Amino acid sequence: MQIRTTCVITGCGTKPVRHVFTHDNEPTHTSIPICGIDHKMNIGTACAAHLSRHDVPVLMVARNSDSLENIRNGLIDLGCNADLISYCAADATTDTGAIEIIKALDGRPFSWIQSLGLGAGTYDLPDENPYLPVEKISPKLLEVELGIVVATHCLLTHFLPHLREQVKKDLPAKIVFITSMSGVRGYRFGSAHVAAKHALTGFVRGIHAELIDMGITPFEVRPGGIDTGFYDPESVRKVMDVLAKQDNMWSGFPPTFAPPLKVAEAVYRALFIDGCPIEQEVRAPHQN
Ligand SMILES: NC(=O)c1ccc[n+]([C@@H]2O[C@H](COP(=O)([O-])OP(=O)(O)OC[C@H]3O[C@@H](n4cnc5c(N)ncnc54)[C@H](OP(=O)(O)O)[C@@H]3O)[C@@H](O)[C@H]2O)c1
Repeated sequence: MQIRTTCVITGCGTKPVRHVFTHDNEPTHTSIPICGIDHKMNIGTACAAHLSRHDVPVLMVARNSDSLENIRNGLIDLGCNADLISYCAADATTDTGAIEIIKALDGRPFSWIQSLGLGAGTYDLPDENPYLPVEKISPKLLEVELGIVVATHCLLTHFLPHLREQVKKDLPAKIVFITSMSGVRGYRFGSAHVAAKHALTGFVRGIHAELIDMGITPFEVRPGGIDTGFYDPESVRKVMDVLAKQDNMWSGFPPTFAPPLKVAEAVYRALFIDGCPIEQEVRAPHQN
């Protein structure tokens, strides 16, 4: 069993429940009450829930402190230990944001889960749908999607000196990059998202040997379709139906999604279970 250092989770959020997906007659989202209203956890928040339930202190990061305070309260309502859950509002794409995160750690050793996504308000998508025919994809959408790679590089360069100090003190130094199945396969209407996720997976593979040389262990967790609220808008559901029918993406079944807690379990394995593979995939039921 590994030492439980604080886990920095960049990209914690929730979305209101606008559509209930099910598998085996059970909803596939992971619920959290936000100001008394049922919301869906995203991957970062599910990691905060799962890790804090396993006695791991977490530092949640997103841009808005009110939203982080609401998530913290929601997790406490669900029975998570308040003493283990802290947060830092910071723009993780900037040097200032990275410095704020390090300040919030206050010298505590840490591991890092990178789970930033196309956060609400980063870019106004028509009908909230990033899956578009290639002629409808603006250069700006590609730029914003690829911005996650730039943010990952920026955070990494700020975190590395601290992680190297941990290695010198014989403390664990681990990073879990949440990438995507879209980093290893392509599909109709996916050019912007697939390009950006291939770039992120490429970045993670490209730095792997350097991190290992430093004594830092990088892991990659690749989610497939996860029920975070991303697929709730009707426009996105319509695209998923096309992918299911025309491209057989769910082996002939209608689209299904996995709960974000499944991703959190994979992250936990990476951080704390000896011998965990460096790459894990978390697919939705029936998903190719
Ligand atoms: N959901 C899926 O089905 C799925 C599948 C495969 C891969 N993934 C990938 O897994 C990652 C996480 O997915 P998700 O659905 O959980 O993501 P998400 O709901 O889009 O969450 C991303 C979080 O990042 C935060 N964020 C965005 N820009 C930020 C910035 N500049 N600084 C700090 N925080 C920022 C947002 O919070 P604020 O807006 O409050 O800052 C948001 O809560 C993404 O990279 C996504 O592409 C997701």
